[in-house]
Amino acid sequence: MIRLENIQRRYVSDEVETTALKDIHLHVEAGEFLAIMGPSGCGKSTLLNTLGTVDRPTGGRYLFGDRDLAALNEADLARFRAETLGFVFQSFNLIDELTIEENVALGIAYRRDAAGNRRDRVAAAMDRVGIAHRARHFPHQLSGGQQQRAAIARAIVGNPKLILADEPTGNLDTENGAQVMNILTALNNAGATIVMVTHSPSHADIATRRIDMLDGRIVASATRAI
Ligand SMILES: Nc1ncnc2c1ncn2[C@@H]1O[C@H](COP(=O)(O)OP(=O)(O)O)[C@@H](O)[C@H]1O
Ligand SMILES: [Mg+2]
Repeated sequence: MIRLENIQRRYVSDEVETTALKDIHLHVEAGEFLAIMGPSGCGKSTLLNTLGTVDRPTGGRYLFGDRDLAALNEADLARFRAETLGFVFQSFNLIDELTIEENVALGIAYRRDAAGNRRDRVAAAMDRVGIAHRARHFPHQLSGGQQQRAAIARAIVGNPKLILADEPTGNLDTENGAQVMNILTALNNAGATIVMVTHSPSHADIATRRIDMLDGRIVASATRAI
């Protein structure tokens, strides 16, 4: 599904140059659940944002299916993201002024094909993560675990092929973290491809494959024995 070939990402600011990604070769097959691990600053978020097309590599190729994403302009990329990707962040990133159902509906706000059955889709997504009973609440009225489940509902309401999660359990206690992992596992079993950054070895073990990064490079890749 995804092929990254020799991806490079350099940041240049004033005199300082940082190389966040070096010589990244990565294939992700449809149906995989890939965990990315590595110390802080090693490039995990940059890699995830590159996969999400919100960060543009300074070198290399990104192929999604048979499409070379370098050929897409910003408008095409925005549509690609809206139709294909779902994002989950460590800090939930819900909008405080909107209710949970309004937040979830944002996940299909830019979908042209989603008119008509929007309400049903939002309700189904909230149901899937067990927050339907909080639909009319605001984010600050929910626990962290509930907020992250709402954020997952927003990510999946458009039925994305690929879910990108950057430390989705990083702000959660053990029990809520386990719930989030159960939801991600269920989504993966239902066909979604998932790429997740995590600092938790036990959460990485739930994935079907794990890669380790160091200083902008992928230094190890291990597929889970079944
Ligand atoms: N916008 C930016 N400008 C300059 N340097 C950046 C920027 N974003 C990330 N970096 C640098 O790139 C490296 C990788 O960052 P990041 O991908 O966020 O690491 P991780 O998610 O593994 O902690 C770090 O050295 C970081 O300081
Ligand atoms: Mg990060």
